Amino acid sequence: MASSFSSKIGVLLAAAGSAIGLGSIWKFPYEVGENGGGAFLLLYIICSLLFGLPLVMNEFLVGKLSGKSAFGAYRELSGSNKWQWMSWTNVICVAAVMSFYFVVTGWCIYYMVEAGAGAFEGMGAEQLREHFEAFEGKTLTMIIYAIIGIVMTGAVLWFDVNKGIERLSKILMPILFVILIAMAIHMMFIPGGLKGLHYLFHPDFSKITSKVILEAMGLSFFTLSVGVGALVTYGGYMPKDQNVTSTSIQMIVMVLIVSVLAAMIVFPAVFAYGFSPAEGPELTFVTLPDVFQNMVSPRITCTFFFALMCVAALTSTISLMEVMVAFICEASEKTKHPLNRHKSVLLVMLLQIVTNTLVVLSMTGEWGWLKVMGNNLFDVLNDAVSNYLMPLGALGISLYTGWFVPKARYQGSRVASVVYLVMLRWIVPLAIVIIFVNNFI
Ligand code: PFF
Repeated sequence: MASSFSSKIGVLLAAAGSAIGLGSIWKFPYEVGENGGGAFLLLYIICSLLFGLPLVMNEFLVGKLSGKSAFGAYRELSGSNKWQWMSWTNVICVAAVMSFYFVVTGWCIYYMVEAGAGAFEGMGAEQLREHFEAFEGKTLTMIIYAIIGIVMTGAVLWFDVNKGIERLSKILMPILFVILIAMAIHMMFIPGGLKGLHYLFHPDFSKITSKVILEAMGLSFFTLSVGVGALVTYGGYMPKDQNVTSTSIQMIVMVLIVSVLAAMIVFPAVFAYGFSPAEGPELTFVTLPDVFQNMVSPRITCTFFFALMCVAALTSTISLMEVMVAFICEASEKTKHPLNRHKSVLLVMLLQIVTNTLVVLSMTGEWGWLKVMGNNLFDVLNDAVSNYLMPLGALGISLYTGWFVPKARYQGSRVASVVYLVMLRWIVPLAIVIIFVNNFI
């Protein structure tokens, strides 16, 4: 893997591929809808630029300077074992993300297949919702499709075909952009669609609560893949002359564009076709097929779009699984039973098959007892990752790099400016703590 991303564009594409995924196309629109529209969008953009940028740069830098994965990077750079807990937090967090992310990846694969078979043709809004609800009750189908996602991701890491993925991303990502832009323009002109844009771009500040701020911050970390060691791992694969600042800015801009475009497609549809903005996680899956009904060659466009969503999901799952695989390889290296890359991939796949199966069983009610405080595991993990684990991971990385990595390690690196240090030492950690604590009082 390390050798496969030895070009600058390769690392940028891999990082952008990790960041642009279901977070932007699935999670972002429904969280905007659940949290009151424009004001949430504004908070999300502020969090991404203010906190996201220094954190993304920093994670890359930790990886690049140490040349290690999330397992060894923190120890290597600080010269102390005290930071090993960060590595463990990272690996627990990626395991938690993957445990529900593959379920949603499975939804995309299923929807691509269904669209290809013409299943959505002629369906109205109500039927599309019923269709999704019926699908949510099919335990075995959901497990099988999640496993297909796990196997596809595992296969990429097993065969080390990142060059192929890189090439594919170079072609497919621009196509995703073009389709999103075309759809967003199309949605501007549908009757009733403008209400959706108004909802999105006219912030109603009375909607801002401490919970909404925490959600916006958590979502920005989720979409930027911050706080779980994924960018540390990719930073470790960066060529020495790669500019961390510009790579980070380019990545963040791409994520923001895709997220906003996804919302510009979903919300006009919500208002025009009579959905509720607060529909929840099914929002993208019920609105988009409806959008396609009114476009040219609906079946082909819809299939193609869900195929692109699968690619976006896959480039994210690859980065998630890579964190865990690299972690296991490095962690087991000096033990009696070192695990090579192939064995690590198999182990992670197995673990994920188990956890995703449990999540589905809890979600469909098949194992109704499998709940935490009355909530199914999908909701618990989805919430815990964005609102607790990733902010805590981000807090850890900002304190670690701001205070405990000897400044000498940054010498020669342009990003070690005063502003940057002040952000990392004070502003970012304080803001995360205040937002976090405020939510509980
Ligand atoms: N950023 C991805 C998305 O928005 O879909 C999710 C993600 C990928 C989170 C990789 C964390 C990560 F390490």
